Amino acid sequence: MSEYYLETKNLTKKFRKQRAVDSINLKIKKGSIYGFLGPNGAGKSTTLKMIAGLLYPTEGDIFIDGHKWSRKDLRNIGVLIESPAFYGNLTARENLKVHTTLLNITDSKIDEVLNIVDLKNTGNKKSSQFSLGMKQRLGIAIALLNEPKLLILDEPTNGLDPLGIQELRDLIKSLKEKGITIIFSSHILSEVEHVAEYIGIIHQGKLKYQDKINKTENLEKLFMNVATV
Ligand SMILES: Nc1ncnc2c1ncn2[C@@H]1O[C@H](COP(=O)(O)OP(=O)(O)OP(=O)(O)O)[C@@H](O)[C@H]1O
Ligand SMILES: [Mg+2]
Repeated sequence: MSEYYLETKNLTKKFRKQRAVDSINLKIKKGSIYGFLGPNGAGKSTTLKMIAGLLYPTEGDIFIDGHKWSRKDLRNIGVLIESPAFYGNLTARENLKVHTTLLNITDSKIDEVLNIVDLKNTGNKKSSQFSLGMKQRLGIAIALLNEPKLLILDEPTNGLDPLGIQELRDLIKSLKEKGITIIFSSHILSEVEHVAEYIGIIHQGKLKYQDKINKTENLEKLFMNVATV
């Protein structure tokens, strides 16, 4: 057991000579919401992909609840990275059914997750006809099917309007209430500061800042300082 559900130690990913992620040490407290901030190309998706088992680290280690990451930890990790892929000709329920069948999960989870993400009234609408916000929610619903202890959301607010962003924030908070540890990335500070309790700022592959959000601190200034050096 560890105070941190997720930790990385000197986690590094090189693409040829570029250190896209450069020796970063993330510390994500159990049951917390962690905002992973950084400008375009900073290394957010690459970091999250390593934690999600989609990319091999070049160097360094990932620890889940105090032990070294292994593929079976993915049972406890829900992931939404970049744009989720759906079967456009299927409804929300049918898309989820594909996953429950594949993962051998009981179908009763389908209604449960549809309820959580507030998509239960989409009936026969095919997912290709969903709005961006609905698609993000369906992606989160899929990520929740395996009852994850850690949820990884890569830019979940991308492309959402202010109302959609507010709804997503509320959804993230409600997931924390269920005891899920959440890391979500964004390149927009204001999307993170209202929901995250901790923030990490990555720039050019390096973690430049990591701390509890301090409401009195000028985060905007901090972010600009960190992201422009
Ligand atoms: N498969 C790849 N092959 C080569 N370079 C890559 C690959 N994936 C990412 N990179 C590079 O690694 C760096 C970090 O990319 P990454 O996608 O992690 O950034 P990001 O912080 O998620 O940015 P954004 O906010 O635009 O999504 C970029 O310079 C990118 O070009
Ligand atoms: Mg990205």
